[in-house]
Amino acid sequence: MIEKELYQMKPMFGCARVIAFSACLVAAGALAQEKASPPAHDHMHMTQKDARSELDFPPPMRQHMLSQMRAHLEALQAILAALGAGNPGKAGDIAEKRLGLGALGAAACDPSRATGGDGMAAMMGAHMPPQMREMGMAMHSSASAFAAVAAKARETGDLKPALAALATVTENCAACHSAFKLR
Ligand code: HEC
Repeated sequence: MIEKELYQMKPMFGCARVIAFSACLVAAGALAQEKASPPAHDHMHMTQKDARSELDFPPPMRQHMLSQMRAHLEALQAILAALGAGNPGKAGDIAEKRLGLGALGAAACDPSRATGGDGMAAMMGAHMPPQMREMGMAMHSSASAFAAVAAKARETGDLKPALAALATVTENCAACHSAFKLR
């Protein structure tokens, strides 16, 4: 319909103006359409209540936390790649070093370690609600548990228990994500 109108207007406009005008019309049309029928996922957001608690973190801490999070995801990717390559020993090592209780970032979730050493970790520890710290610790300990199971898989050759243990790790990621948000 829009195209038909444009076609009829053509004689009144120079070519370049028609192109600019049509871009405008298309944009307006797209906007109108979006208003009339929101995509299904928007609809879901409107009806599903967001029950996550909002964290009150100062900007540098937000950035630090999000970069830690991206590192978590990269670690997870490296773990899956190692498992896929049939190398559970390597997967376990990555998990212990980058996600486990011994990982640098774990200090922020561990109240006993958050006070000394790493200043950012101490600050994170101080701002994190206790429930969030607990969820963080649950994730770090499940990663260490996965490392132990993965080490065993190297001997048995059975990857199933390691995969199940890794699912517990991602379950802990997801649990915290459904409980907290930055904004
Ligand atoms: C203790 C809580 C907690 C745990 C555990 C946790 N996250 Fe997060 N993560 C968060 C919060 C809070 C955000 C910000 C979400 C928001 O504001 O919408 C976040 C954001 C992220 C982001 C987005 C980063 C960005 O730059 O926007 C990624 C990716 C992520 N997490 C990956 C993971 C992975 C992978 C794991 C598990 C290995 C994990 N997280 C475990 C709390 C957690």
